[in-house]
Amino acid sequence: MAALGLCRVGSHVLARCQPALCGSQCSLLSGQAAGGHRRGAQSFPVIPGDILPIYRHVYEANTRNSDSCRHRFLELQEKVKTGGGEKAVVRHTQRNKKLLVRERLKRLLDDETFLELSPFAGLGLPYGDVPSAGCLTGIGKICGIWCMFIATDATVKGGTAYPISVKKQLRAQEIAIQNRLPAVYLVDSGGAFLPLQSQLFPDKEHGGKVFYNEAMMSALRIPQVAVVCGSCTAGGAYIPTMAEEAIIVDRIGTIFLAGPPLVKAATGEDVSPEDLGGARLHSRVSGCVDHFASTESDAYSYARMIVSTLNYDPEPGDRAQFEDPVYSTEELAGLAPRDYRHTLDVKLILGRLLDGSKLLEFKADYGTTLVTGFASVEGNLVGIVANNGALTHDAALKGSHFVQICNQRDIPLLFLQNTTSLDLLPPNVSKAEELTNRLKAQASMIAAVACATVPKITVVIGGCHGGESFAMCGRSYEPNFLFLWPNARIGLVDVTRLSWSDQKEEGWTDQTEFKTQLNRMKEESSAFYSSARLWDDGVILPEDTRQVLGKCLRIISQQKYERNANRRSPLLRM
Ligand code: COA
Repeated sequence: MAALGLCRVGSHVLARCQPALCGSQCSLLSGQAAGGHRRGAQSFPVIPGDILPIYRHVYEANTRNSDSCRHRFLELQEKVKTGGGEKAVVRHTQRNKKLLVRERLKRLLDDETFLELSPFAGLGLPYGDVPSAGCLTGIGKICGIWCMFIATDATVKGGTAYPISVKKQLRAQEIAIQNRLPAVYLVDSGGAFLPLQSQLFPDKEHGGKVFYNEAMMSALRIPQVAVVCGSCTAGGAYIPTMAEEAIIVDRIGTIFLAGPPLVKAATGEDVSPEDLGGARLHSRVSGCVDHFASTESDAYSYARMIVSTLNYDPEPGDRAQFEDPVYSTEELAGLAPRDYRHTLDVKLILGRLLDGSKLLEFKADYGTTLVTGFASVEGNLVGIVANNGALTHDAALKGSHFVQICNQRDIPLLFLQNTTSLDLLPPNVSKAEELTNRLKAQASMIAAVACATVPKITVVIGGCHGGESFAMCGRSYEPNFLFLWPNARIGLVDVTRLSWSDQKEEGWTDQTEFKTQLNRMKEESSAFYSSARLWDDGVILPEDTRQVLGKCLRIISQQKYERNANRRSPLLRM
């Protein structure tokens, strides 16, 4: 590094620093610096967070709505826990003598406090229910290192890949790349779900992209380990074969392009799975895997030992000290807006998410429909960008300014999104001028958000509608993580604003048809509909948000402790 060089974390240039201070020990990044920020943040002002009696009816209406959303959340959580159902569980555990995917994770990870991603993906799709998209993904610690795991669930149609399974795996790899997380694949898959092969094979974001990503991740020096703990047929065969290091479980793991039934059909030959592609063959003859494990438990121990050889530093232990919010997180259910008209001051929500309920507001009296400022979540400094009404001209300019400041200072951004759709037709000329000016300012903010290289996290706490959702770091703006509250509504148009009387004026004649359309749009706007299609990284309960954010910020910060990430070449398996 030059005498006064740029300190780089992942693809982000962090700051100019002295060479003596740089590398993984850079003092700009160390626990000491974090401690310094914490001391400063402790003197930030406390947000006045009492909910005034005048707003009681809004609070109560929101609470009723949150209760029913939470009910649906818990129902779905229960549904996905059983994977492919009881019959498949019996087949998996008793006939095939394999561990269930969550048991596997218990053996692989340090503890059960992992961050699961998109557990509701795959529910209610046109081709049916695919619980958890047939594959669990998430981030957990192995030997103190945050790692992405991608674990197929063979109780869901033999672990075969549906289009949504591929999408989920690709998103997990994208998160691993963006946050520079080592990845561990637990593979137990019959390859492509054949009836849907046309939606799985040919296109850019289809199955082949998983293996493309494996090569690119290796070239980016993102280590990948695979455990073959079941069948790896056809496409599934490439996952361990492309990983940097692979383990196979005796009499459980197999790798082949075509299984024994296909061999029989093609050649008439009877061959056992073991002889065709079992653990002994691949560890002694083909060299497709690097480690032979006698049992599943041994295989996960191997995976843990391999992670300990990655030469990563676990996150420092001193990060655990921080203040709790002054106000109860349980009250967030009454603040989660059932619709735009039931939105209270977003600072009431911030007061229940931030350390000590403290916020150093930026431009507090300007563009007040957007709240911006510095705060900490579980000891991590963040820049807050939170909707507090329409994204007006002033609010959008303030947003652009603040996002650029955070980018300059390498402070991760936290967007709390609650947007609504605009009236498309302005009522008069002066309104048209105002809307055009607003459009220009929003375009600046969209550009600032798109180009910010600091980590970004978005939580949709209410509406996600129209162009304002782009400026608030919607999915296309590549936030490192995007979560929804169960009350969130996602759609180009805010359906809660559509009424029969307005539509009648615009020429609709059939009220029944209008109601049918409206109900369909309402269902399509729900958080669960979105999450089933992987438009987000999961639905989280308001009261869990603080912990989820704390975890994400710690996961993101792991890249600070990592070595030079410039692309070189992938590791080529021999
Ligand atoms: N496409 C669609 N469905 C498949 C499938 C595939 N490739 N492979 C398995 N399934 C379905 C089975 O029909 C069965 O469905 P059901 O529960 O509705 O009866 C379910 O997945 C479980 O399969 P089963 O064979 O009963 O379980 P198993 O544990 O004994 O074996 C596999 C699982 C994956 C090892 C085995 O089914 C297999 O080898 N499948 C063929 C894999 C293949 O040739 N893939 C090529 C893809 S290009």
